[in-house]
Amino acid sequence: MSTKTLGIIVFFLFGPWMGQSQEPLLQNVYNRPATLLNGNWKYVIDPYDTGYRNHRNWLPFDQAESTKASAKPYYTDKVIKNRWDRIEYNFNTSQEINVPGDWNSQFEKLQYYEGAIWYRTTFNYQSENDNSVFLYFGAANYQTDVYVNGEKVGQHLGGFDPFNFDITAKLKAKGNSLVVRVDNQRTKDRVPNYTTDWWNYGGITRDVKLVEVPKTHIQDYSIQLDPEDSDRIKGYVKVAHGMGKKARIHIPEAKLNLEVTLDESGWGAITMSAKRIKKWYPKRPKLYDVTLSCGGDSLKDQIGFRTISTQGPDILLNGTSIFLRGISLHEENPIKVGRASSLDEARLLLGWAQELNCNFVRLAHYPHNEHMPRLADRLGLLLWEEIPVYWGIDYEDPVAFAQAKSQLEGLVHRDKNRASVIVWSLANETPDVPSRLEFLKKLKTIALALDDTRFISAALERDEKSTANTVKIPDPFADEVDMIACNEYIGWYSGLPERCAEVTWQLPDDLPFFVSEFGGGALYNHHGDKLTRWTEEYQEYLYEEQLKMLKKIPTLRGMTPWILADFRSPRRNLPLIQDGWNRKGLISNGGFKKKAFHVLKAFYDEMERQYDYQIKE
Ligand code: GCU
Repeated sequence: MSTKTLGIIVFFLFGPWMGQSQEPLLQNVYNRPATLLNGNWKYVIDPYDTGYRNHRNWLPFDQAESTKASAKPYYTDKVIKNRWDRIEYNFNTSQEINVPGDWNSQFEKLQYYEGAIWYRTTFNYQSENDNSVFLYFGAANYQTDVYVNGEKVGQHLGGFDPFNFDITAKLKAKGNSLVVRVDNQRTKDRVPNYTTDWWNYGGITRDVKLVEVPKTHIQDYSIQLDPEDSDRIKGYVKVAHGMGKKARIHIPEAKLNLEVTLDESGWGAITMSAKRIKKWYPKRPKLYDVTLSCGGDSLKDQIGFRTISTQGPDILLNGTSIFLRGISLHEENPIKVGRASSLDEARLLLGWAQELNCNFVRLAHYPHNEHMPRLADRLGLLLWEEIPVYWGIDYEDPVAFAQAKSQLEGLVHRDKNRASVIVWSLANETPDVPSRLEFLKKLKTIALALDDTRFISAALERDEKSTANTVKIPDPFADEVDMIACNEYIGWYSGLPERCAEVTWQLPDDLPFFVSEFGGGALYNHHGDKLTRWTEEYQEYLYEEQLKMLKKIPTLRGMTPWILADFRSPRRNLPLIQDGWNRKGLISNGGFKKKAFHVLKAFYDEMERQYDYQIKE
């Protein structure tokens, strides 16, 4: 192979597109007026990348200008004009697919599909004077390439974090063609990579919208109680093209009205008195209307103000010790089956958590859609949010690190003003090797630079083998977290439920201990004696024995048993019991509660009494 050819290949493999190629993420798109592009889009399945790569040199068409005129790349959205034209795709006559929505659950033929699918929609758009128009995606799994009117606008890598592109210069008043390629293949350098215990739902899984903003617009902000001084609100506001301008932050109910002069980068510090602020509590989830404005732009948010800290093994919310009565859940609607992306589905899942008497939810194992933290703010549910640094990703690959970093930045950027979020979790059951420790320590530095007001944690590695019945957590990342968390399956993967009574835990006494997963599988309405695996009675017995064991741990301050509802997993193939479902849910895929649901609910009722608190203004 000639040096020239090698150079071309290296350039294309590690060029500027290796990471992300989109504009800074807009803040609080949730509350901005927008044009929704949701609905029925056309789609083309492309397992051999026929519409994306030159089949002879395998290079993407959009990285080799010479082929722009060609009809081959699907993003040119060519239509047949002459009876002799040869075009071997046609969006206009292709089938339709719902956006948002994973493709696996929409068509039987796509249930297990992993590869590329092309989406196409058309729209008219007339923007005002010299405003900017952003194309915003709530998420798409996993690699997303976006083209407007045959021109590439950018690429995003990551399956669960939002992204946007400034498409102002590409728009026409009539007949815009928006073509999106989504590829959900599991590859070595992705995050997560080869295997997960959840369905690899592919596609445009969340809202797509056009957001028009003035050139000078509120681009980002953080407004929270100062963790060092709960009588102060601190933060910042960043305004695009805001150099030297004045921004205003108005919280009318607290009679707060601050004007900030922005520096040369459009950034300004916020500090206000919190004397009139009523703090946010799960029992009183008080939110304030906060309006930020600058020039012709004005943006409203609903923000709760609280502090979260630890004192020895105690977790303090507004200085009061609490117990996190939690449950884990996937972003999946277990009744309709498929990714849950709507507000109604957020109400379903968090409503079930409330029925369990939870005050805490672990949004496993990746960033969920934005309805979840915003609804949790309103319902008074605290949240653990995480990125899918899950099991064995490639901790030595800078490409993998760039993707973990990008997903963490997207999550913190989006949710840093949500009172409900108190934990950023950086990993789940990851191998205790030096490269993983460095990887996680770098992610922790990034998370704290973006937001130092919340806990850093991870589902750490435990050691059950050192001595038969003493569980320790020798994970070196335990020195880096604010609360010690681990998953443990004593009674399911490790012994039978009675083993819970034989186990002792050896834990640090100066940090909160949190069980991020325990549980076992049961098929709803499958009954037998309590030692017959997969019966509701076994799961019920397991929960009883687990809770007896955990109650004895003096530093236990919370738990998120695995899991609220049965969920799809290609790893679960026991016929007539699993059939592609992980059955550890307390609720079945039909939405029915199993016996163990009531065991956990009774325990949480008791913990609520034990950790009751008075609301201090
Ligand atoms: C692991 C993992 C989960 C998985 C669960 C299980 O702890 O974190 O993602 O679903 O165990 O085995 O059911």
